[in-house]
Amino acid sequence: MLRGKTIVLGISGGIAAYKAATICSKLTGAGANVHVIMTTSATKFITPLTLQTLSKNEVHIDTFDENNPQVVNHINLADAADLILIAPATANTIGKLANGIADDMLSTTLLAATCPIVIAPAMNVHMYEHPAVVHNMNLLAERGALFVDPGTGQLACGYVAKGRLAEPEEIVDAVSNWLSKPQLLAGQSVLVTAGGTIERLDPVRYLTNDSSGKMGFAIAEAARLLGADVTIVAGRTSATPPSGIRLVRVESAEQMLEEVLARYEQANVVIKAAAVADYRPLQRYGQKIKKSGDILHLELERTTDILQTLGESKQDQILVGFAAETEHVDEYALDKLKRKHCDFIVANDVSAEGAGFNGDTNIITIYNKQGIVERLPLLSKAQAAERLMNIVAARLQQIKDDSHDR
Ligand code: PMT
Repeated sequence: MLRGKTIVLGISGGIAAYKAATICSKLTGAGANVHVIMTTSATKFITPLTLQTLSKNEVHIDTFDENNPQVVNHINLADAADLILIAPATANTIGKLANGIADDMLSTTLLAATCPIVIAPAMNVHMYEHPAVVHNMNLLAERGALFVDPGTGQLACGYVAKGRLAEPEEIVDAVSNWLSKPQLLAGQSVLVTAGGTIERLDPVRYLTNDSSGKMGFAIAEAARLLGADVTIVAGRTSATPPSGIRLVRVESAEQMLEEVLARYEQANVVIKAAAVADYRPLQRYGQKIKKSGDILHLELERTTDILQTLGESKQDQILVGFAAETEHVDEYALDKLKRKHCDFIVANDVSAEGAGFNGDTNIITIYNKQGIVERLPLLSKAQAAERLMNIVAARLQQIKDDSHDR
């Protein structure tokens, strides 16, 4: 996918800049024409000559170093690029791009670019989690940038935490995937729910479930890779949300209902991967419940079924529900699809090895009103999510084609 593509590789100033040499070498090795732009700080970590030798192109550092009177360098590079990759991306470079600041060759080229932008952040964990940096990354993702999340490991500052530049292979794969993926969901707004809800009993106790959020997050990521504008409404999760996707946090089923309903009309696709409580304590105590007697009886009441509520007021949205079952999977899943007026239902037998809650893998079957659309084997949640989103994209395309034929 990289053969003949023009990639601008932006390198900003962090210790991980030395890894940009490997990235550059892998990109050129795969047939890409690589043009490197370095910030002045990046040149303190790795020499321009290294990148010039590997890319076989002049390395750009100074915006005013206009050596060819025929072109304006930053515009020329921005126009020529099929994709711009920033690796490593420092908090400063991310902040500049998010806020429209153009004060060096890299930031100026980025503002002039209309091609896809892939950002591989690398920084100290506290910087990475700083609200300003998180805000900037979310802004850029909303504008369509793809983030290759940093890994967890030994950071140059001595911390063992998240913030280490993703491995060069992973970054090059992300670039290659982006360039090879048809943007089947471009212009579509996808709403994904993830994680488990929390139903409070008293200030320190609650009912919840084992959902980690991994399945919902993988779906959100897959939708984004297909070009969708994605929002996640998430309850309690143990997995790290994908950086740069709009994330709305909720606790209870009631709050999830509210946040989902507020976005329902604008959504083209809604995917309900969250594990939502069916019951909540009838009474929520203002103070911690004191011990008394050997047995404590709790009364629970039904929560609103969010999926059913959406199904009943559905207009043109594609509605995808999940079914977590332990027996009669096909039968129960199809029953849920009909009762809740879904377009698709995704069943997982949560008692099967490698499927369901918490793990990195799942075994799903996707149904529509006619029956089984696809029974997938054990796959990573990312792979399962990708397959699901391709099926959803195909359905959207079919609806579009049908309306043209009428
Ligand atoms: O988060 P992970 O650890 O990766 O785990 C993934 C998962 C197992 C949670 C996921 O694959 C999954 O199966 N999610 C749905 C879990 C669930 O609540 O299933 P259910 O069969 O009880 O509910 C059916 C559907 O109705 C679901 O889409 C659910 O979101 C929805 N529902 C349920 C109750 C309710 N009050 N409102 C709802 O919208």
